[in-house]
Amino acid sequence: METILYEAEQIPVAAKVIKDGGLVAFPTETVYGLGANALLPEAVKEVYAAKGRPSDNPLIVHVAGFEQVKEYVDNFHPLTEKIVAKYWPGPLTLIFSIKKGSLPEVVTGGLSTAAFRMPDQELTLRLIKTAGVPLVGPSANTSGKPSPTSAEHVYHDLAGKIAGILDGGATKIGVESTVLDLSDPSQPPMILRPGAVTQEDLASFLESPVLVDGHLVSASETPKAPGMKYKHYAPDTEVLMVREKDWPAALEWVQKQHKKAGVIAGPEIAEKMRYQTAAVFMLPEDTVAAGARSLFAGLRALDNPQLALEVILVETFDNQGLGVAYMNRLSKASGGRFFEAGMK
Ligand code: TXA
Ligand code: MG
Repeated sequence: METILYEAEQIPVAAKVIKDGGLVAFPTETVYGLGANALLPEAVKEVYAAKGRPSDNPLIVHVAGFEQVKEYVDNFHPLTEKIVAKYWPGPLTLIFSIKKGSLPEVVTGGLSTAAFRMPDQELTLRLIKTAGVPLVGPSANTSGKPSPTSAEHVYHDLAGKIAGILDGGATKIGVESTVLDLSDPSQPPMILRPGAVTQEDLASFLESPVLVDGHLVSASETPKAPGMKYKHYAPDTEVLMVREKDWPAALEWVQKQHKKAGVIAGPEIAEKMRYQTAAVFMLPEDTVAAGARSLFAGLRALDNPQLALEVILVETFDNQGLGVAYMNRLSKASGGRFFEAGMK
């Protein structure tokens, strides 16, 4: 199959492909999604096959507006309208209990709940409206690779396996949406996956408690969002997180041990490491927003067999605000390992 890169003018063509059961990747403000008609079980199965993803991991249903959700849900959490009015379209996925049998089991993984999101991306909202159906949209990467933040990343992973990619340029946020569980109207909202909409944002806006799934805090518990239990991205190259104060020691270690090292960091650190290490991927700025936007692109660039790096050292950010989502993704990529002085 030849994978076509669709431009904005070809949205009607892409929408017809989707409506008829084909696969088209779409841009969002977070990462690219792999789109298929959520109402066609056969099409959804193709999504799992193209990604090589375990099929008990439920998918997000992407909609063009809140009205569309009402076709599948009638029992809403009392805070729903307030949350939707403030955060949609945006990087916030909401989990609701659904009307029994209203969505195919391949979408929900057989759960009585489903995840919904209205992405803040003009082209994709037009695609959904034109198709006239909701779209499933897991991140459009091969399972086990970092989520794609550009059409090129999608092409690299899925060319030949999908009908097309709607090109919307690089994504703005770079980490996947916050997943918020609203499925039990008697319980406070609970964050199952951290993203750009933070616990602090939600709690202060709602003026009421917002919980965070226990396993995100203590690693020993089983996560409630099924996708969070999979080892997400396991680079072939070792990845180490480097605390701000540890960069001089990390540099010394690289030199003494003759490590072929790569670095992912903002300009301040990247400049210092430039001539001392084998490869540097510079984040565009020294901010956590720049880190989130470019982390996956940096990992894709440096975890490349041709570079043959032995280790990738990555800048850390404070575990607050957007830093919670950044550190969550980086922890997964590094297997939770930090650089420590005196390492072998
Ligand atoms: O930003 C995003 O959310 C991107 C873009 C493309 O929209 N999509 C994305 O999809 O990250 P995916 O499939 O990679 O992640 C969906 C997450 C998984 O962790 C999954 O387990 C969780 O949402 N999820 C889906 N349905 C659920 C449900 N009914 N209950 C709990 N978690 C659910
Ligand atoms: Mg994913």
